[in-house]
Amino acid sequence: MPLKKYIRDIQGFPKEGILFKDITPLLINPEARNKCLEILVESLKDKKIDKVIGVESRGFFFGMLIAQELNVGFIPVRKPNKLPYETISATYDLEYGTDTLEIHIDAIQKGDRILIHDDVLATGGTARAVCELVEQLGGEIVQCNFLMELAFLNGRTKIKGNEIFVAITY
Ligand code: PRP
Ligand code: MG
Repeated sequence: MPLKKYIRDIQGFPKEGILFKDITPLLINPEARNKCLEILVESLKDKKIDKVIGVESRGFFFGMLIAQELNVGFIPVRKPNKLPYETISATYDLEYGTDTLEIHIDAIQKGDRILIHDDVLATGGTARAVCELVEQLGGEIVQCNFLMELAFLNGRTKIKGNEIFVAITY
């Protein structure tokens, strides 16, 4: 099944000059969604995972599905001031300015084997920040797992040293 058929290009969103990859046609189609989940989970065969991180917000969609499929815990990494309990945070660079992500301090126990999932690996800033959060809490990153990679942005250099799996490459 050609999954790219279910990813829609939106020119000029969220701002001029950006070609946005819209995954809502994939989410709405159960066969395409299942195929995608199957590919992501297949990449984890023979790997022991204790918990899956989904990155707010688009990383929540498949992050939770993967956790359910593996029958392991799900951890939301969220944008600032969304998590109610005590958190640690990591700040990363955007095109203009910075952004921050947070995780609950008790989400990961030392030595937990963690899968990090997000929808897109673009410049890699988001993924790098999540890796830092996992490392700070003493988790072991088993794989950084993405639906899509915008390979021309070279984001994987920011998370080198980690295993990376991508279902669809642009
Ligand atoms: C997008 C995307 C990834 C991130 C990738 O999220 O969902 O999380 O950017 O970009 P990077 O590799 O350059 O850091 P965004 O921050 O737009 O928020 P959203 O998921 O809530 O839409
Ligand atoms: Mg995101």
